[in-house]
Amino acid sequence: MPSLVVVGTQWGDEGKGKVVDLLTEFADVVVRYQGGDNAGHTVIAGDDKIVLHLLPSGVLRPNCRCLLGQGMVVRPGRLLEEIDALAARGTSLDPARLTISARAHVVLPLHLAADEAEERRRGERGIGTTRRGIGPCYEDKAARRGVRFADLADPDRLRALVEDATACRAPLLERQGVAVPDPAETCRDLAAAWARLAPFVGDVSRAVHDELERGRHVLFEGAQGTLLDIDQGTYPFVTSSTTVAAGACAGAGVPPGAIDGVLGVCKAYTTRVGNGPFPTEADDETARKLREAGGEFGATTGRPRRCGWFDAAAVRRAVRVNGLASLALTKLDVLQVLGPEIRVCVGYEVDGAVEPEIPLDRLDRARPVYETVKGISEPLRDVRSPDDLPASARRYLALVEKWVGVPVSLLSVGARRAETLVFDNPFRLRRRGASGRHAAVARGPRSAGRG
Ligand code: GDP
Ligand code: IMO
Ligand code: MG
Repeated sequence: MPSLVVVGTQWGDEGKGKVVDLLTEFADVVVRYQGGDNAGHTVIAGDDKIVLHLLPSGVLRPNCRCLLGQGMVVRPGRLLEEIDALAARGTSLDPARLTISARAHVVLPLHLAADEAEERRRGERGIGTTRRGIGPCYEDKAARRGVRFADLADPDRLRALVEDATACRAPLLERQGVAVPDPAETCRDLAAAWARLAPFVGDVSRAVHDELERGRHVLFEGAQGTLLDIDQGTYPFVTSSTTVAAGACAGAGVPPGAIDGVLGVCKAYTTRVGNGPFPTEADDETARKLREAGGEFGATTGRPRRCGWFDAAAVRRAVRVNGLASLALTKLDVLQVLGPEIRVCVGYEVDGAVEPEIPLDRLDRARPVYETVKGISEPLRDVRSPDDLPASARRYLALVEKWVGVPVSLLSVGARRAETLVFDNPFRLRRRGASGRHAAVARGPRSAGRG
C-alpha cells in the first residue's frame, strides 16, 4: 500500500505545491486532508504559474485522481472558480477525477465576516489570519453546528443550519461593525453551487481505502506547516486545523497503518506570514534581500512574508512530530543573495541550558543559538544533477542533514519542475518499508550520491 504524506515543516509556504506536483508523476491519487483556501500552493507548469487554494496540486496531471477529505473546510464558490480557471486552461475535471467529501465543512460568508470581526476585536493581538473564514468554520464544526457538503442537498435543513449559525454570530459582528450576511442570500448562492458540485460529492474515506486496496500510489498533501498546527504549533498564532502528518488520518479517514511514509518540505531559510513569534526573524536588510530574491509574498493574500534565518531546531521538532523519513529542501538557490556567510539557529538557550529543539512553551524566555557557516557562493538554478552541485551547496546540505537528523531526498533550486534534484525518490524510500526508511536515515549526510 504505497502512500506518502507531504507536510510543511515550518510556518507554511515551504514549496509544498511544487513538491507535490513533482511527486504526482509517481502518484495515482492526491488527497488534501485539512485547511481550506487559506492555503496557496504554487505550481509552475511550462510557462504557466498556477496557484491552487483548494484543489490538490496533483490536478495538473491528467491521470491523477483528486480528493478533498472531510478534514477540509471549503468555500463552494471558490472551489468552482478554481475548477473553472483550470478548465479555461484546458484541464477539465469530471467526477471520475474529483471527489469532495460529503462530510467536509462548508465555509459560509458568515465565517468570513466572523473572521474579520474577531480580528477587529483582538486589535493589536490579532492573529493576522488570511480572513478566509477558516477559524470560524472549524469553530462551528467543533460546536456541532457546522454545515457539511451533504447538508447542501436538503434546502430546508440547510436554511435551518445557516439561520442558527447566523443567530449565534450576529451579536459579535454587530458589535464590531461587520455586516451580517443575509441567510436567504447565502442559501440561494449555495443552492446554485450545489447544482454544479453535487455530482462530485461522495465518500472520500472509502475512496482512499479502495485506491490503497488496489495498490495505487496515494499522496496526502498537507497545507500550512507544522508550526501552524493547532496542537503542535506556536499557539495561539496558528491555523485552526491539524497540519501535521497525523492529520492525514483523521482528515482523510484512513488508519495510521495506511501511511507508509512522511516527507517534510523545508525551505532553506524561514518565512512566516501573519503575527506571532518568529525567533530567527532577520534584520530588515537581510529580510528584504530574502523577500526579493525568493519572491516572498503571500500566494493567497499577497502580504509580504516575514523572512529569517534557517531554524534547524524548529525543523528538528517537525522531524520528530511528523515522523519524517526525509526532507525536500527548497529554495536553496535563494541563499546566494546573502553572500559568503549565513547564520543558522542550531538550538535554543532556555533556563540555563541549550536545547536542540525549539522550546515552544518557553519561547518568551528562549534565545536562539546561532552557528555562522559558509553560504552558497555559486548560482544553482542551472544545476540538474547531484554530481554537478557546487561544493558550497554540498557542504550546506550535509550540515542541514546533520542538524535535522534526516537525509535530504529532494533538492529544489528553482520554482520550475526541472529545477529539482532527486537524490532518493521519496516513494521509493517508503516502498523499501520500515527498514529501508531507517537505513536511509542512518546513512546520513554523505548519502545519495553526493559524497
Ligand atoms: P506552498 O504553500 O508550500 O505550496 O508554497 P508557496 O507556493 O506558497 O510558496 C513557495 C514559492 O516559492 C512559490 O512562489 C514557488 O513557485 C516558489 N518556489 C518553490 N520552490 C522553489 C525553489 O526551489 N527556488 C525558488 N527560487 N522558488 C521556489
Ligand atoms: P500554505 O498551505 C502560510 C497563517 C496566516 C495566519 C495564521 C492563521 O500556503 O503553506 P488562518 O487564515 O488559517 O486562520 O490564519 O496562519 N497561514 C498561512 N501561512 N501559508 C499558509 O498556507 C497559511 N495558511 C494560514 O497567515 O498567520
Ligand atoms: Mg503557500
